[in-house]
Amino acid sequence: MLETISQILQKETFTKNDLITLLSVKSPEAMQVILDKAYQVKSEMVGRKVYLRGLIELSNICSKNCFYCGIRMSNTKVERYTLSKEEVVEAATFAWKQGFGSIVIQTGEQKSNIFTQFVEELLLEIHSKTNNELTITLSCGEQSLEVYKSWRKAGAQRFLLRIETTNHELYYQIHPKDENHSFEKRIEAIKNLQSAGFQVGTGVMIGLPNQSIEDLANDLIFFKAMEIDMIGMGPYLEHSDTPLSSEKALLWPVDERFKISLLMIALARISMPDINIASSTALETIDLFGRQKGLLAGANVVMPNLTPVPSRVKYQLYNNKPNLDKNATLSVVSLQKIITEIGEEIAFNEAGNSLHFSNRQA
Ligand code: 5AD
Ligand code: SF4
Repeated sequence: MLETISQILQKETFTKNDLITLLSVKSPEAMQVILDKAYQVKSEMVGRKVYLRGLIELSNICSKNCFYCGIRMSNTKVERYTLSKEEVVEAATFAWKQGFGSIVIQTGEQKSNIFTQFVEELLLEIHSKTNNELTITLSCGEQSLEVYKSWRKAGAQRFLLRIETTNHELYYQIHPKDENHSFEKRIEAIKNLQSAGFQVGTGVMIGLPNQSIEDLANDLIFFKAMEIDMIGMGPYLEHSDTPLSSEKALLWPVDERFKISLLMIALARISMPDINIASSTALETIDLFGRQKGLLAGANVVMPNLTPVPSRVKYQLYNNKPNLDKNATLSVVSLQKIITEIGEEIAFNEAGNSLHFSNRQA
């Protein structure tokens, strides 16, 4: 088996069957061979350095009802909030002063003009208060091409919109089947983001009820075919106040979700060497060393949470979200420690743009 794995890893491109074989490895030795190869590719292509993106969870108001998510519209237990402009600018300024090259503004999906204009104002205000030295990523759901263009114009350079799963049938097992949760519209939104000129990130959840290894192999093929610049993906984690969490019999064991998540990161790195890949918070939720393990599997981006602590508690997509009580300064100190522990360094004051994006433009 080890021999087969090494042979496949020498190939220039993987077939779907190759990906299935690689994602199905059982022995720790075989898994390590894959992770080592990914780390080698990472070191050569993007270096042993980590880009920090300060995460600002702008608002937990959402018009969608994804079956897996703790802040879905129908969850009445959630106290809804939107940060003020001052709170956002303060968090962004903190990131800038700490030398993070970049921030991510994330929200539930809201489509009102008031909201889209608020985001636009925030972009302008942050750039002016931070000497235009921060790169801003948005993660604000599906919007019209016009809205995407207006945000791009106001100075957002990157956008994250996960496809969640590329299996059409599974997509509708984890989302209501209605106009507001259309798989086709999601794909169209990703294409619109590309045509609006963003560096585009997408991703999936790993270990969803009824998800197969073949689905995950298809997800990797989709990322490559779509010329994606960045990937954020991690294990699916239950939230007790959501419909999907009741499907206990179908759940993958947590350690399996973790292991396959690392393999997905590694295979994404090997097959798409020049993209940026995040080591997700969800990994850290399962394993204390999850973020480090993600970096060692080929990820090169970490997103420390800069949301003011009282609001952070209200932005729980899944149970047991880590660092709920840690203030931003503390989380930066602990991050620096875990990054130097694995022999990597933080790329302070660098934008850390996706190399794939510049290669694609050229
Ligand atoms: N488990 C893991 N990831 C989740 N997300 C939402 N809910 C969960 C959950 N229960 C992820 C989705 C979404 C991103 C913002 O968070 O992939 O796109
Ligand atoms: Fe809303 Fe995003 Fe949660 Fe879906 S995953 S309910 S769109 S916040």
